[in-house]
Amino acid sequence: MAVGKGTSNMVNLLLIGVIVLSLFGSNVKGLGVNWGTKSTHKLPPDMVVQMLQDNEIKKVKLFDVDKTVLNALADTDIEVMVGIKNVELESMTNKTNAVDWVYNNVVSYVDKKVKITSIAVGNEPFLKEYEGRFINSTRPALERIQKALNDAKVGDKIKATVPFNGDIFMSPPWKPLPSAGILRPEVEDEVEEIADFLAKNNASFIVNIHPFLSLAVGDGGFPMEYAFFNGDISIQDGDIEYTNFFDAKYDTCVSALKKIGHENMTIVVGEIGWPTDGSKWANNSLASKFYDDFLPRISAKKGTPLHPDNIEVYLFELLDEDARSTLHGDFERHWGIFNYAGQPKFKNATFVGAKDVKYQSKKWCILKDDASYDKLKLTQNTLYACESADCSAFAEGGSCSGLDDAGKLSYALNAFFQVANQSDDSCDFGGLATQVDKDPSTDLCKFNIQIKPYDPSESSWTSWFSSSHITNAPSFALLVLVFLAMGSLILV
Ligand SMILES: *[C@@H]1O[C@H](CO)[C@@H](O)[C@H](O)[C@H]1NC(C)=O
Ligand SMILES: *[C@@H]1O[C@H](CO)[C@@H](O)[C@H](O)[C@H]1NC(C)=O
Ligand SMILES: *[C@@H]1O[C@H](CO)[C@@H](O)[C@H](O)[C@H]1NC(C)=O
Ligand SMILES: *[C@@H]1O[C@H](CO)[C@@H](O)[C@H](O)[C@H]1NC(C)=O
Ligand SMILES: *[C@@H]1O[C@H](CO)[C@@H](O)[C@H](O)[C@H]1NC(C)=O
Ligand SMILES: *[C@@H]1O[C@H](CO)[C@@H](O)[C@H](O)[C@H]1NC(C)=O
Ligand SMILES: *[C@@H]1O[C@H](CO)[C@@H](O)[C@H](O)[C@H]1NC(C)=O
Repeated sequence: MAVGKGTSNMVNLLLIGVIVLSLFGSNVKGLGVNWGTKSTHKLPPDMVVQMLQDNEIKKVKLFDVDKTVLNALADTDIEVMVGIKNVELESMTNKTNAVDWVYNNVVSYVDKKVKITSIAVGNEPFLKEYEGRFINSTRPALERIQKALNDAKVGDKIKATVPFNGDIFMSPPWKPLPSAGILRPEVEDEVEEIADFLAKNNASFIVNIHPFLSLAVGDGGFPMEYAFFNGDISIQDGDIEYTNFFDAKYDTCVSALKKIGHENMTIVVGEIGWPTDGSKWANNSLASKFYDDFLPRISAKKGTPLHPDNIEVYLFELLDEDARSTLHGDFERHWGIFNYAGQPKFKNATFVGAKDVKYQSKKWCILKDDASYDKLKLTQNTLYACESADCSAFAEGGSCSGLDDAGKLSYALNAFFQVANQSDDSCDFGGLATQVDKDPSTDLCKFNIQIKPYDPSESSWTSWFSSSHITNAPSFALLVLVFLAMGSLILV
């Protein structure tokens, strides 16, 4: 922390702290994170759970049912949403399958004291690009799962719901305003029935809101500042002035649900965040800018014009995932608020990183200095290495996009070597490659060393944590306080 060293700063900080505390209370309730596990080298789940606790993160959203993850969450206060994949939806429309699924993946973990509170039935199943593939299976699966939960006597505490992409909501082209929000016509009937079912069952409606995607994958017409919260751009909607995409999109959902009779439905934001690499719009400074504004809003329980109260959100996401699909863009592997090794990315955000992370040896694999090569061979080898290793930093605007062809091959060789657990035969490439113990990273482009592969059967990982659960790490509330204080200090 660069702030608060001098006495007067410290006093200011304390004063502001007192004011902020009295305004907002000391707890950030409702902050959740998505915990995806598509990584070549996973951090031990116990270590991640410790990290969640150190940061006072109270809710996690999972995309599937990973037993090592769920076991690590046992006996904690962390609320857990487990996920059913879209490809499983069809099979969940069958009663026997739904009952079995609930028994094996919910009831058995509830018995082990995992605090499961909801089931995500599918993940954005009505996304436009799926072209209706899951339109007929989602609602029946949702109903089957809730029925199975009820029959297992856990339905009062565990609610099935469906995380939707924000693209199920829109405003008509002739009235592009949040107040005119409606459901996308192709999915309107199904979403309406799902909303009715959720309401009857007191479950929340979940929608993912991604200002980054509107900016980075849109048609280019999206004004950058509208993705953030500076108020430089605004849209007038009656008496309301919308200054950012998040408020406008959320209120579009509020308006659309109101039109179908659900004005009081709880709308949870299932995903929101900003990636740090793999696109020209994804870097640390933009992501910091986003979180610097967004996190204090959440802690201050500041909602939107149409929903001024607290909004429950799940940040997207906890950790970078180096094996996540890059179908939608190379940035997909860089959404973490922590990097692949559980280390915090943002200076201002005093998130507490994973402790005692075990890295592989301090060695890298690069292109031999004297290797004779031609351009074609460079490219072919790079492509080959990047098939199994993560080269998403090569994307236009990415942190390693500035390397020349030889530099890119070195990067790819190293990434391949690290993924292969630094085995000697993974650093050969027909004699092109060699191991070095001097870090070949450049200022912008980091050649990573992977963490040690985690083997769930090795108990040594877990034993590290049994020693102490006491932590004096700053809480998330304090972190947000520091954010606010820093902002105010600049004004003073
Ligand atoms: C449901 O699945 C079970 C086995 O998984 C199968 O025996 C049964 O026939 C299926 N029921 C229907 C209605 O398809
Ligand atoms: C969904 O059901 C409708 C009506 O039965 C049918 O016309 C449509 O082809 C089905 N869609 C899919 C993807 O199965
Ligand atoms: C929903 O909540 C209301 C009010 O709290 C309660 O009366 C009702 O039984 C609940 N319904 C279900 C299905 O949980
Ligand atoms: C929403 O809540 C308000 C205030 O409690 C109530 O007056 C209104 O009838 C509710 N609307 C619906 C559709 O339930
Ligand atoms: C981050 O990305 C923005 C938008 O492309 C760019 O203007 C800015 O210079 C980048 N910042 C850094 C530190 O690379
Ligand atoms: C790295 O080691 C882990 C654990 O021993 C193993 O599961 C994994 O397959 C190894 N990766 C490769 C590419 O050899
Ligand atoms: C940290 O926050 C301050 C005040 O909000 C801001 O001026 C600064 O740019 C931020 N630094 C980073 C690295 O985001």
